[in-house]
Amino acid sequence: MMKLKSSVQQSFSNKMDKIKYFYLIFFLFLNLITLPVQGNCAVCHILTDAKSSGQIGPNLNQLKPDMTRVIYAVTNGIGVMPPYEDQLTLEEIQAVAYYVSLSANQ
Ligand code: HEC
Repeated sequence: MMKLKSSVQQSFSNKMDKIKYFYLIFFLFLNLITLPVQGNCAVCHILTDAKSSGQIGPNLNQLKPDMTRVIYAVTNGIGVMPPYEDQLTLEEIQAVAYYVSLSANQ
């Protein structure tokens, strides 16, 4: 009985996690579209799923970064790429990393 309950809770919380991510990604896209040009990943990167075709940074479809790699790059910046630590919350960075790693590796 206890086991069943905890597995139900587990799958419920996974589902909530997913819903949370989808909301974050949705708001993040709104944000990234309205942010100044420099704030938009799409200006610099190719990612087919996001229909973006920027040529300044590496093609994310080819790079296929995992979530940790995206989190690191977005938080700290790398080379010409600016850090987003001050513009995005930790959860927003996680959400964008989740989305980018998922769509780049599909
Ligand atoms: C001003 C252009 C620019 C913007 C905006 C930008 N990037 Fe980048 N990005 C780059 C460049 C250039 C590199 C390669 C840096 C290097 O290796 O020296 C890079 C590298 C990366 C990498 C690979 C890091 C690694 O470990 O090699 C990832 C992942 C990435 N960017 C994701 C993003 C995401 C997600 C966003 C939006 C939140 C974004 N970038 C916004 C230019 C940009």
